[in-house]
Amino acid sequence: MESKKYLIETFGCQMNIHDSEKIAGMLRNLGYNETQEKSCADIIIFNTCCIRESAELKIMAKIGDIKALKKANKNLLVVVCGCMTQQKGMPETLKTKFPFINIIIGTHNLEELEEYIKKYEQTHKSFSDVWEKEKEIKEHTSVYRTSKFNAWVNIMYGCNNFCTYCIVPYVRGRERSRKLEDIKAEVQDLVSSNKYKTITLLGQNVNSYGLDFKDGKTNFVTLLKELSKIEGDFKIKFMTSHPKDFSFELVDFIASCDKMSKSIHLPVQSGSNNILKIMNRHYTIEHYKELVDRIYDKIPDATITTDIIVGFPGETDEDFIETCKLLEYVKYSGVFGFVYSKRRGTPAEKFDNQIPINIKRERITKLFEIQHAIVKTNSEQLIGKTLEVLIEDKIKNVFIGKTDAGKTIKIKNENLELGNFYKVKISKVLTNELVGEVIID
Ligand code: SAH
Ligand code: SF4
Ligand code: F3S
Repeated sequence: MESKKYLIETFGCQMNIHDSEKIAGMLRNLGYNETQEKSCADIIIFNTCCIRESAELKIMAKIGDIKALKKANKNLLVVVCGCMTQQKGMPETLKTKFPFINIIIGTHNLEELEEYIKKYEQTHKSFSDVWEKEKEIKEHTSVYRTSKFNAWVNIMYGCNNFCTYCIVPYVRGRERSRKLEDIKAEVQDLVSSNKYKTITLLGQNVNSYGLDFKDGKTNFVTLLKELSKIEGDFKIKFMTSHPKDFSFELVDFIASCDKMSKSIHLPVQSGSNNILKIMNRHYTIEHYKELVDRIYDKIPDATITTDIIVGFPGETDEDFIETCKLLEYVKYSGVFGFVYSKRRGTPAEKFDNQIPINIKRERITKLFEIQHAIVKTNSEQLIGKTLEVLIEDKIKNVFIGKTDAGKTIKIKNENLELGNFYKVKISKVLTNELVGEVIID
């Protein structure tokens, strides 16, 4: 008999991408195999995100599309999980709008999905079970990894920061760190497999790793020091950092350790102190710049990326100009810019000085214009430089690699091995990619 098939639709951040790898692991335990074709699927899982309204609208539309399939195939099992379902009243809204959904669960009981599916297969009764509170971390889930050379590793879950615009603390619960030994064992396994060349540590604010243990010794730098002792040819990346907790000790450690990636994601959100304050970010722009200076000073080949929100309630033209000036100051290698979106239940939803959509749009366009020019200059300055490149693919006689900062680079060479790091001299800069030659040293 042909095996049953699953299809997972993933929305949102890396945390969700990795959660979908756990979901795939559980489904495979139950004997399902993957399909890319919705009409061939026996189970469709929506792993949702609610960070902005646009994400939610898109997901609602995608769930709506399933109605016809479900009519044609009564046995199709439809599951909705992830951040969206964790909002107050959302399971009820979903049930009313889409009565054909069979299982609704939240972020805190993802690990139970395997049991829930078994239960459904026996009873054929639809249900919704969303836990309000987080439970202790459950280890040893089966993970079916879908990325090629990069492996995602959770180091902590949840967030305690309550930035006034953000829904994450409400849907992912409070900060919980995984035990250092558990993380180390997982990374050791991944590296030993010789398949994974970058290990990306995941958390909403990785810089507060271990603080919940209150043992006075475990913190993010202690964790990195332990992981960097693992032998092998691999790089350690992490996301996301909160600037208020990014210590100088961490900068110095990254500078001193070959295994640490020199590409740092440091979300600033705004260049204006007024706005940072009402966003509840707990740092000033002076502190942020001092951190950036320290990074560039200690790590000369560092690249920095950021997240920015434009049109936060009360953002004046002057505030926005401060943000534009910051782009020029830091010369980010990449900016993820977002238009502020009201989120239900967050403090900023109630702020009465909301910004009209046309101004928000003007500001985001301007932001991208400035950043585009910066990226162009940054890239041009790479000509003649030698960068470390991971070779990820080969198309005809051209090898495709990624720099530490995530830029695509094409190399024509006969004898490279996929999944190896090489030193590459940049010879040409095209719009979205670099061209280079391997240096043998
Ligand atoms: N924990 C991470 C990531 C949070 S979500 C961090 O603190 O950086 C990723 C990004 O989405 C945020 O950095 C922010 O720029 C953006 N974001 C969060 N809430 C938003 C909202 N209500 N409207 C628009 N963008 C938002
Ligand atoms: Fe959201 Fe702020 Fe937490 Fe990031 S640090 S997840 S932006 S509340
Ligand atoms: Fe990520 Fe979206 Fe949840 S950004 S943490 S999947 S709300």
